[in-house]
Formats: sequence, C-alpha cells, structure tokens
Amino acid sequence: MNDTSSIKIAPSILAADFANFGAEIEAVEAQGADWIHVDVMDGHFVPNLTFGPDMCKAIRPHIKTVMDVHLMIAPVDQYIEAYAQAGADIITAHIEASPHIHRTVQAIRACGAKAGVALNPATPASSVEYLLDMVDLICVMSVNPGFGGQKFIHSQVEKTRQLKQMIGDRPIHIEIDGGMDPSTAPLMVEAGADVLVAGSAVFKGGSVGNPEPYGENINAIRNAIGN
Ligand code: DX5
Ligand code: ZN
Repeated sequence: MNDTSSIKIAPSILAADFANFGAEIEAVEAQGADWIHVDVMDGHFVPNLTFGPDMCKAIRPHIKTVMDVHLMIAPVDQYIEAYAQAGADIITAHIEASPHIHRTVQAIRACGAKAGVALNPATPASSVEYLLDMVDLICVMSVNPGFGGQKFIHSQVEKTRQLKQMIGDRPIHIEIDGGMDPSTAPLMVEAGADVLVAGSAVFKGGSVGNPEPYGENINAIRNAIGN
C-alpha cells in the first residue's frame, strides 16, 4: 500500500457541464482536485464520442495542475503529437488499441509527455511486463471504457495488487479509472493505487455556481482512504 498522503484525486471532466469546461476545471481545482482527467473517445474503440485536440488546447490554460489525457481511440499513434501540442502532461493509450504499444509509448515520450498505458478489465496485468521500464503510469480500467457512472468491477482489485508487485520500486503511478467513490477507493489504495480518477462521485450535487459539493465529494474520498 502507498503512503496515503501521496494519493492524487483526478476528477474526470466527462462528468462536468459540457457548456462550461473552463469554469468547471477552475472550480474543481479550487475545491482540491490534484489532476484533471480528460477522457478522449472516438466512437470506434469505445461506443461514445468526446474531445479532440483543439478542445484540449482550449481548456489547457484553465488547468493549473496536471492535464491527464486518456486516449480511448484506435488508431492512436497518428494523434499523439496533436494531444502533446495541445498541452497534455500525461498521455495514456490503451494497450488493446495499439498493435504496437511499445512504439506508441516511445512516441508519447518523444513528444515530451509522460506516457501511460491503460488496461481494459479483461486485459491481464502480465500484458505490461515488457513495458515497465518505459512507462510513467498504468491505468487500470475498473469499468469498461466509454461512459461515466458505471458500476465498479471488483476483479480489478486483484489486478491492481499484481501490478503493484510487478512494478516494485519503479516510479510508476497506478491510476484507477471507473466507479471510484468513498466505498471503492479504499480497496484500490490498499491494493497499491496512487491516482484515483472520479467523475460522477466528484461532480455530483455541484455546479460552477455552487462548487462546494465538489470539495465535499473530494474530501469524502480522501477521508475514506485516510488521506
Ligand atoms: C470511462 C472513463 C472514466 C469515467 C469515470 O471510459 O475513462 O474516466 O469518466 O467516470 P466515473 O467516475 O463516473 O465512473
Ligand atoms: Zn478515463
């Protein structure tokens, strides 16, 4: 298990007001978000469509923390540079979306961004074994990618535990994405996660005009993990 004071909460703007991203980001950062998670979907790799690189570029000046871009797109390689130029600090690609994920990770780092790999729920921990010396983040999908507000898939706790052991003392973040709330987050932190993406659990009950619930929701997760 990690030192819980180092756990990052990364709200997903997929659950924010789509007419108000700049203000939503500023509000959720003021309420204690550590990173901003941006879910890019292509309607092909996942059955939903969201943000292109121009949109990422437009929101970048509103982000004071870390822009964490999760690419749920296939093909992926030809878009990496555009998301890096849009200002992504971390770019995560799916291992299932790239036939040459090793090359994809090299391409992300070559653009100057930190490189993440995401694993769908059915993809085993062992799939990243030969990437461990070249990634900065492993994202464990604890729902099937495509939508916010889905139910947490419990089998991903054991996968996270395996990944933590495989990583050893390498400086790699384990990020959990999907279904994170005060009841599920402690399971993943105990298993070794240090970045928790949360969409609906952070944005519920609040708005730009009434942002305090964002802070209460973030604190509810922090309290649950003893952070
Ligand atoms: C799912 C996305 C997640 C999602 C999380 O494809 O990658 O980031 O927004 O949403 P919640 O926290 O509502 O499960
Ligand atoms: Zn995501």
